[in-house]
Amino acid sequence: MQVSIKTPEEIEKMRVAGRLAAEVLELLDEHIKPGITTEDINRICHDHIVNVQKAIPAPLNYKGFPKSVCTSVNHVICHGIPTEKKVLKEGDIINVDVTVIKDEYHGDTSKMWIVGKPKPGSERLINITQECLYKGIELVKPGTRLGDIGHAIQQHAEKHRYSVVRDYCGHGIGKVFHEEPQVMHYGKPGTGMELQEGMTFTIEPMINQGKYQTKLLPDGWTVVTKDHKLSAQWEHTILCTADGYEVLTKRSEEPF
Ligand code: MF3
Ligand code: CO
Ligand code: CO
Repeated sequence: MQVSIKTPEEIEKMRVAGRLAAEVLELLDEHIKPGITTEDINRICHDHIVNVQKAIPAPLNYKGFPKSVCTSVNHVICHGIPTEKKVLKEGDIINVDVTVIKDEYHGDTSKMWIVGKPKPGSERLINITQECLYKGIELVKPGTRLGDIGHAIQQHAEKHRYSVVRDYCGHGIGKVFHEEPQVMHYGKPGTGMELQEGMTFTIEPMINQGKYQTKLLPDGWTVVTKDHKLSAQWEHTILCTADGYEVLTKRSEEPF
């Protein structure tokens, strides 16, 4: 499969889907506190997407995934399954990953929260991981190569003695949830595919406090750090424009 270049009509639909996904994350700010379960978070997101946005939560039944969002707590890297058994407590860190389908197009985004009072070590991991995402985004423009983006992310993470997860990556996105190209969060400058105007893809670095190795739990979805140290992730859906980028899943708290 070739990388798809989106038409202006498709880009407008991607903007709508992206905005809806971002709104779901904004809605969660007031809810994430000690005592909430990851199933509560799932229900809040599901109900808002289906009843208010009249959209579809893409993860639900995707390759058999049983819930509407992914909730990844502490040493869970990604694809955590919401459950009423997981009660968030003071000091936990959590990623909620939301993907909505509106008018056939996908918007995919995630962010991190610290539950209750911030812990310095966790806050640093979360902030550096967000900086990794932003450093990748800032390079997006026609002519940049995917290896440039991966390299910038890897440099920033490793400078702070964190590691970059290798087993999962960003992806092209549009009518299809995960399409070409694969967007690695590590790499060599000057290598890989050249970006072109009209490409839409995610950047979603997963950065670990310890080593980068992953382990898949027997539920077939939950990915954890092999050394059980903390992991953080932030994700945006990006459009490559004629002279740079547009963050399709931008939240109002963000600069861009
Ligand atoms: N939203 C995830 C991503 O960023 C994919 C989740 S697939 C699921 O690509 F099935 F786990 F939900
Ligand atoms: Co994604
Ligand atoms: Co996602």
